Amino acid sequence: MSELLSRAPLSEEKIFSIEYDPIDAQVLLLDQRLLPHEIKYYRYAGVSDVAKAITDMVVRGAPAIGITAGYALAALSKRSTGAGFFQAIERGADELVAARPTAVNLKWAAARMLETARLIQDEAHETRAARMQQEAEAIHLEDLHACKTMGKLGAEHVPDGGTVVTHCNTGALATGGYGTALGVIRAAHAMGKDFKVFCCETRPYLQGARLSAWELSEAGIDVEVITDSMAGHFLKRGEINFAVVGSDRIAANGDVANKIGTYGLAVLCRAHDVPFTVAAPWSTVDLETPNGEAIPIEERSSEEVATIFGKRIVAKGIVCRHPAFDVTPAKYVDYVFTERGSFRPAQGEGPSLFSRSLGLKSQ
Ligand code: MRU
Repeated sequence: MSELLSRAPLSEEKIFSIEYDPIDAQVLLLDQRLLPHEIKYYRYAGVSDVAKAITDMVVRGAPAIGITAGYALAALSKRSTGAGFFQAIERGADELVAARPTAVNLKWAAARMLETARLIQDEAHETRAARMQQEAEAIHLEDLHACKTMGKLGAEHVPDGGTVVTHCNTGALATGGYGTALGVIRAAHAMGKDFKVFCCETRPYLQGARLSAWELSEAGIDVEVITDSMAGHFLKRGEINFAVVGSDRIAANGDVANKIGTYGLAVLCRAHDVPFTVAAPWSTVDLETPNGEAIPIEERSSEEVATIFGKRIVAKGIVCRHPAFDVTPAKYVDYVFTERGSFRPAQGEGPSLFSRSLGLKSQ
């Protein structure tokens, strides 16, 4: 895919989900809705088009949508030649943040870009554009490095032998590259550990069946797809030994928001004494949100549940519900792996306590 870009992709992946073309000031996005059957990229110049692509799930995954927002604001900076630069970035940031409410990475990345814009607003146009591009690239590269660090940390906990279960897609597609929970799995595989992965299909968008299974098999990792409702059956039979998932927002007390279905999996893991773990960059941690109750849950269109690939499966007129995320209480989360280290919400150690023990500020 490198022929699409005037330079090597920052994500280090053969098939990347987001890159920035600095020559044209355009954001390149892989249409993840078409995977694994079709590889199609779109180029975006305007913030509104990028915001729509985020809402429509062309690009998805908490870190990935944050990185996308950073690049969209870099592109906007290149086009904002006159006065009113900061106000334009402010409006752009607001529009991007409104595209999806649960993943805090989006808000975090937009705030970081906005702070950069505030600091450099009086500079010449070329300097502003260069600094904004630099900041967006830093967000991208820092996420890639965070994934690799948390991957190594989490990999130590993956059992050698047996089966690991994961939910949704947390791979290179959902991040700056390498992946969070899939990064843990990739790192464990690279360490020579021998295990199989169950990907829960993840209704209704099927990120597990379409994306995670594909990414893992491309990486040479033994993978099988199960429907979300099969996890309990395999756990009861002792056929799952470890769970690792990603997150869209981790509250100060260690409650974890992630793709709908995660909570049920966590409760089932606890019922069967199987470790339930989460891998996420620190940009997913939201110390301003005290607990899971305060996390906004995106409610998506009921059509996405009523139909599968355009074919209606529920009779017309019947209401379908579609909360896109759920919250797993801290007490079910055995470990959270981040680039800053790991902490144990189930033992009463949320990110708030953890960051205080390290003397860290919130972000
Ligand atoms: O609706 P999506 O596909 O954006 O949801 C993604 C997830 O829930 C992921 O598990 C989460 O963002 C972690 S991605 C590294």
